Amino acid sequence: LVARDGPILRVRFNRPDKKNALTADMYAALADALTAADEDASVRAVLIEGNEAGFTAGNDLADFLSNPPSGMDAPVIRFLKAVSRAQKPLVAAVTGPAVGVGTTMLLHCEFVYAADTAKFALPFVNLGLCPEAGSSYLLPMVAGYRRAAELLMLGEPFDAPTAQACGIVTRVLPAAEVLEAALATARKIAERPAMSVHMTKMLMKRQLQSTIDSVVSEEAGHFLALMHSPAAKEAFAAFLEKRKPDFSKVG
Ligand code: COA
Repeated sequence: LVARDGPILRVRFNRPDKKNALTADMYAALADALTAADEDASVRAVLIEGNEAGFTAGNDLADFLSNPPSGMDAPVIRFLKAVSRAQKPLVAAVTGPAVGVGTTMLLHCEFVYAADTAKFALPFVNLGLCPEAGSSYLLPMVAGYRRAAELLMLGEPFDAPTAQACGIVTRVLPAAEVLEAALATARKIAERPAMSVHMTKMLMKRQLQSTIDSVVSEEAGHFLALMHSPAAKEAFAAFLEKRKPDFSKVG
């Protein structure tokens, strides 16, 4: 759901029966919304939020199997490029599970408010995949190499205080206060002079942007190739069949 709230563009994941898992159509809508926000001077901040089901369970694994992204024009890649190059300030409200891209997209947000009950995970290796959204570069930078290795190479869920300690989250709050805190920050940002806010974001990212761009593309190439690997096929099938994956024969 994409809606205007005065100068704020609110983008809400809205697929509660599937924990807001993201399909190709949803990625396309997200990419379009972020691109349109950058082109619309009246948008002063973008708020990314979930609903009662949480933030987002990341890539829809069933959609990935039946409708695998192919090539750099795939909606998921368009979204990763749009969020990692967004010019407007991004604010996120994480009230529940944020898995995979649900966590990695937060690395591109300037402000991230999370519920003390929210759970995060970067399960790429457990799915036979590799990091995406620039996370192989940004997470070691914000969390430190050792903590990034733990989160990306074990892929186990972690809690909101850990996400904050790793630099993924700005502030941890009781669940009922998260959306209001995120909205209050979005409104504050919207009141600041737009050009100064824009310049500040641009200058803070100036040295990083070209590296982020090339890492996002490089990761995407590996990710798209790995999706067709026996390990990923086994992991996706296991998830849909609600069983533990068996990687003993797939390498
Ligand atoms: N893709 C497709 N369907 C998903 C999904 C995903 N990423 N995440 C959740 N769903 C579906 C489940 O299959 C289930 O569908 P069903 O009711 O038809 O069986 C429904 O959403 C509810 O999920 P469930 O696992 O029962 O909820 P939970 O509260 O126990 O756990 C999560 C929530 C997010 C922790 C868990 O669903 C999960 O780990 N999802 C997979 C996340 C993932 O691996 N993402 C890909 C990253 S690349």
